[in-house]
Amino acid sequence: MADHAPSIAMEAVLKSSCDLPEDMPKIRGYDFNQGVDIQAVLESYINTGFQASKLGLAIQEINHMIEKRLEPVQPDEGKECKDSVDAPKSGCTIFLGYTSNLISSGVRESIRYLAEHKMVDVIVTTAGGIEEDLIKCMAHTYLGDFNLPGKDLRLKGINRIGNLLVPNDNYCKFENWLMPILDQMLLEQNTEGTRWTPSKMINRLGKEINDPESVYYWAYKNDIPVFSPALTDGSLGDIMYFHSFKKPGLILDIVEDIRRINGQAVFAQQSGMIILGGGLVKHHIANANLMRNGADYAVFVNTGQEFDGSDSGAQPDEAVSWGKIRMDANPVKVCADATLVFPLIVAQTFALHADKLTASKKAE
Ligand SMILES: NC(=O)c1ccc[n+]([C@@H]2O[C@H](COP(=O)([O-])OP(=O)(O)OC[C@H]3O[C@@H](n4cnc5c(N)ncnc54)[C@H](O)[C@@H]3O)[C@@H](O)[C@H]2O)c1
Repeated sequence: MADHAPSIAMEAVLKSSCDLPEDMPKIRGYDFNQGVDIQAVLESYINTGFQASKLGLAIQEINHMIEKRLEPVQPDEGKECKDSVDAPKSGCTIFLGYTSNLISSGVRESIRYLAEHKMVDVIVTTAGGIEEDLIKCMAHTYLGDFNLPGKDLRLKGINRIGNLLVPNDNYCKFENWLMPILDQMLLEQNTEGTRWTPSKMINRLGKEINDPESVYYWAYKNDIPVFSPALTDGSLGDIMYFHSFKKPGLILDIVEDIRRINGQAVFAQQSGMIILGGGLVKHHIANANLMRNGADYAVFVNTGQEFDGSDSGAQPDEAVSWGKIRMDANPVKVCADATLVFPLIVAQTFALHADKLTASKKAE
């Protein structure tokens, strides 16, 4: 019998390593012997590995956006910004996008905080992301269960979004509230020549809701444009459909809005994208940033995967190939449910730097 292991196995198993750079981050998580310190737990994420490290990098990337945002706006360097609505208002224009379900969820309150304190410059969401915020000012959304049977819920007039429940009456209240506003919008279109766009309509709804719990109330107050080119794909569209029988003729111009959102990117001094979820919101913001040859900073939080070739699941590097993110940027994708991570991100970025970010507003 051989008295030593085969050399091929020994060499394979005991293969020697080259030295790794001294400054390479070393994996080490939080030690609870230090007590319960949630901020320190979050700070430890960057060296924890896997998606915890991605979250740590996303926090760093957003803090870079905030640093740049605090820099003064330089004079327009030959960018031919002729329209004052396009002029950048800070050193880094931050685009925030989120899918509808995040407004249905409690992430709405984190988003409302950002709008309330004017910490982001441009918002993009889908129709549900507008109406669910307004409806929540009229009636509650409840916590249910992913497994509640659709048939039982339908018989009771209860709608399900994941494990959230929304009584159908909420949408009836919304319709009662919205119909006279649509009447008024149509009147202004016909008598004053108002050319409505989705962003102008959202601004008007934010004014009409007049409730500080609402994201769009604050977007209206703080002059943050909200873009939603598919505004009819939700209860808003259902109501506009019914309204078109009662009083036909209301027009929403999406071309004026594409010019406006692209202008926000083209003339930005620097630009940063924070995009929660995929679909329209992800592409609409990235495509606007193509117009400036790419965003300077980018954070994606989504559950999409790239194997199916979807834009939702595409890694940031795919956007680099299209010129939607700059070649020298350090974009981060966190693969996670945004309801888990976005409040943590806000805690370590915007909320942590709230004093600096709101200083100029307080001085006004
Ligand atoms: N509450 C609602 O969800 C609601 C209500 C009314 C209308 N709608 C309409 O449904 C259509 C599709 O909705 P959508 O485009 O907003 O997004 P979506 O729900 O279709 O999601 C798009 C992608 O985003 C990612 N994603 C979604 N939720 C996520 C999360 N919690 N964390 C991380 N990643 C997530 C997934 O990859 C998903 O495939 C829109 O036109 C919208 O107006 C939705």
